[in-house]
Amino acid sequence: MSDPSDVALRAASPWWRPDPGTSLVIRGGSRLVGAYPISGAKNAVLPLMVSALLTPHLVTLHNVPASLDVAVLSALLQRLGVRLNWSGGGTTLSLTLCADHMHPGRIERDLVGRMRASVLLLGAVLARCGEASLPMPGGDAIGLRGIDFHVAGLRAMGAEVDLSGGMIQATARRGLHGAEIDLPQPSVGATENLLLAAVLATGQSVIRNAAREPEIADLARCLTAMGARIAGVDTDVLTVQGGRPLTGAVHTVMPDRIELGTIACAAAVTDGEVFLDHARADVLGAAGPLLASAGVVLEEAGTGLIARRATAGLVGIDLQTRPYPGFATDLQSPVMAMLATAKGASAITETIFEQRFGHVDELRKMGANIAVHGRTAWVRGVECLTGARVTATDVRAAAALVLAGLGAKGDTVLDGLEHLDRGYDRMAEKLVGCGAVITRSTV
Ligand code: UD1
Repeated sequence: MSDPSDVALRAASPWWRPDPGTSLVIRGGSRLVGAYPISGAKNAVLPLMVSALLTPHLVTLHNVPASLDVAVLSALLQRLGVRLNWSGGGTTLSLTLCADHMHPGRIERDLVGRMRASVLLLGAVLARCGEASLPMPGGDAIGLRGIDFHVAGLRAMGAEVDLSGGMIQATARRGLHGAEIDLPQPSVGATENLLLAAVLATGQSVIRNAAREPEIADLARCLTAMGARIAGVDTDVLTVQGGRPLTGAVHTVMPDRIELGTIACAAAVTDGEVFLDHARADVLGAAGPLLASAGVVLEEAGTGLIARRATAGLVGIDLQTRPYPGFATDLQSPVMAMLATAKGASAITETIFEQRFGHVDELRKMGANIAVHGRTAWVRGVECLTGARVTATDVRAAAALVLAGLGAKGDTVLDGLEHLDRGYDRMAEKLVGCGAVITRSTV
């Protein structure tokens, strides 16, 4: 029998199909050679979809990735009265959203539990409707992932927020007003939530210590096209002159820099050569030079980048995850999977999320030599990984285990596929297009 939330997902996103298989079988050892189209960024498209709540006019997004998170957010938006119109398919999926009759709605726990980013709805719904009610969000098990910065920022803008009984209830009967907000940490989600709210709040808002991830600039570009006035885009101080009614916009979602980094590592691990179509190296931040020093070559070529392994092979590196432009925490697990077979040792320190080493035990099952001390994983490169049955515990761990399986000897069976599908648009199918041997299995 279908999961009721699966029915809602299909109603909101006709392209979405519940996965027929429960696991992925990856036969290691094939060189990846060919073209791999990089999809629109998961972390950009979610706040962009939410921006449509700020206007009664049409917002059209091109280059939308067909991922489970997009389907979940589509179903959530539908429950708020937003009308969705999908067009295109394959790598050219477009979505037009119309929130002319939106209401604060009733947001069910079943869907919110499937996606942490549902908290992004809070600021926009509150700003547009004067009230918002949302179950506490779910998502990856990678750390505490509080929402205190989101709540404090909205309170500074005049909202009353009650957190009890597993619900977030926010009201702003007389509307939100501009505020000066200092984020204790450059949180991506809090910056986006507060930016979305500030655009409709009356007067000036200043968000200091704002996150600078390129996906925030992508959101700001779309909001600006809708008529919002935002200064300081790409810096850590965003100044918003809010309160103007917004128009619609047409926006193309930026390419996914995490998918780019992950597939570049997969090309290097398999000693292949992959053309990453639509990829942009300028959004990699510190990951660009770090990948290069590990032996991943990225060359500009036409509409994308060519990725391969350096002639000298892969070598160990030391890295720390940091807010952008530092090394992205979302690349930590795939890069660790690659370094598991690099020459020499690597020290990988995770500073953003306290439980983001869920992939380590799984990589060990495949023969990796990794020791974790506190927030640092010490990786000593081994000759080769061996296929094993492993389980993904979060989106990025899933990608890391696919990568490990591609380079391993024998078959890797990956369970926990929902995590892969949450974050990536048909990753396994696109890898098969580059020569990978991957099948879906129900055993
Ligand atoms: C976003 C990304 C995720 C990425 C992360 C860090 C999306 C949909 N997800 O997640 O892929 O790994 O940025 O680059 O864009 N924190 C608090 N209180 C808050 C908010 C955050 O303590 O109110 C903490 C978190 O627990 C975490 C850190 O701040 O330790 C950074 O989290 P944040 O940048 O908010 O991550 P997300 O927006 O959830």
